[in-house]
Order: sequence, then structure tokens, then C-alpha cells
Amino acid sequence: MNPAVVAPSLLAANHGAFAQGVRSVEEAGLTWLHVDIMDGHFVPNISFGPQVVADLRPLTKLHFDVHLMISHPDRYIEAFAKAGAERLTVHVEADHDVAKTIAAIKAHGMTAGIAMNPDADPRRVLPYLDSVDLVLCMTVFPGFGGQSFIPSVLESIRFIAAERARRGANFRLEVDGGINVETGLRCREAGADTFVTGTAFFKAPDRKAFAAALTA
Ligand code: DX5
Ligand code: ZN
Repeated sequence: MNPAVVAPSLLAANHGAFAQGVRSVEEAGLTWLHVDIMDGHFVPNISFGPQVVADLRPLTKLHFDVHLMISHPDRYIEAFAKAGAERLTVHVEADHDVAKTIAAIKAHGMTAGIAMNPDADPRRVLPYLDSVDLVLCMTVFPGFGGQSFIPSVLESIRFIAAERARRGANFRLEVDGGINVETGLRCREAGADTFVTGTAFFKAPDRKAFAAALTA
């Protein structure tokens, strides 16, 4: 069983002060930063790119958990590796050869994750489970922070958790979108161990207490 990790999403921080957002994650005693990269094509929103990762890299030791919500993730592996990302998670729904992309991410010294949208058949990621160390079950349709949690995804989380147990694997099971203490608990009960949280974290009056409650 993986130790629970809370990964605040930079998307929910002030985009005019990313360094401040990073500091608030560190001050909450956390070790992961979730970095949402959006191309305005795979998702109907544009966020930021490798340069933000590169500029934040020297400022922090946080683990950069980069979530590529882009149509052609294979084209940006080198750029994010050079920028200092430790991990790239790519969508099974994107326009690429998933197995080749995962191999290329690892060849660039990063760890690889596979993500699926809330309406995906979770069986779509089965062919990749032996080559990733994180599965991301989106609990909102990707593109924007502040959306409501989609409870039907709990079934996919349970399915992936059962498959992990059956294989004796130990990849992380990450959830992302509308995660707060209440929805986080439901996901934990379903088998999730890695919790992306944007709005709930950055709007929390006491972020450290919120993060502790999320994994209590
Ligand atoms: C949505 C992103 C999520 C989002 C989470 O497309 O992938 O990481 O920023 O934000 P909240 O926690 O506000 O739903
Ligand atoms: Zn994300």
C-alpha cells in the first residue's frame, strides 16, 4: 500500500505568482506539486508550458507531477524532461501511441503515468499497467479547476484498485478533480492513494490542516 500523497494543483494558484503558490505548498508540509498542462485542443482551456516548469525547478525540491492534457504528449517529452519534470502522466484518449509515449518518458529518466477521463472504460488502461507507476482516474472532465466531483468514477477506481491487487502491483492510484475532504475519503475507500486538489487546497483557510484532514 502506498503512503497517501496530496498533490496541490498549480492550476488553482495565482498565475501571476507561481513561485508564491509553490511556497504555500511547501509551507503546508507537502512534497508533490501537480502541474496541469493544457493545449486548448485536447481540453477546452490553455494553461502553461515547459517554461513555467523550468523556471520553478530551481526554486523548489517539490516533486513535479506533470499532467499532460494535450493531444500530442509524445512531442513534448524532451521539453519537460529538460525543464525538470520528474513524472509525466499522459491520457489514454490523446492522439499518440500510448506504449511508445510511456517508453519514451522512461527513456528520458522520468516516471510515467496513464490517465483516463471520467467516461473512459477503465479496461482501456489495462495494457499499460505493467509499464506505469501511476494511474490517474479523472474525477472531473479535464480542462478547468473548481468543477464538481463525478461519483460514477468511484467504480473505475475500485476496478483499477482490484486489478492492482490481483497483479500484486504497486502503482499509485491518483484522483484529480473536485477533491476535498469528503470526496477524497470516498476515493480513498475505493483504493486511491494520491490526491490532486486545486481549489479546495488554495482556498482552504488553513492549508496544512486541510491536507492533513484529506489523508487522515
Ligand atoms: C482539471 C485538472 C485538475 C484540476 C483540479 O483539468 O486536471 O488537476 O486543476 O482542480 P480542482 O481540485 O479545483 O478540481
Ligand atoms: Zn490534473
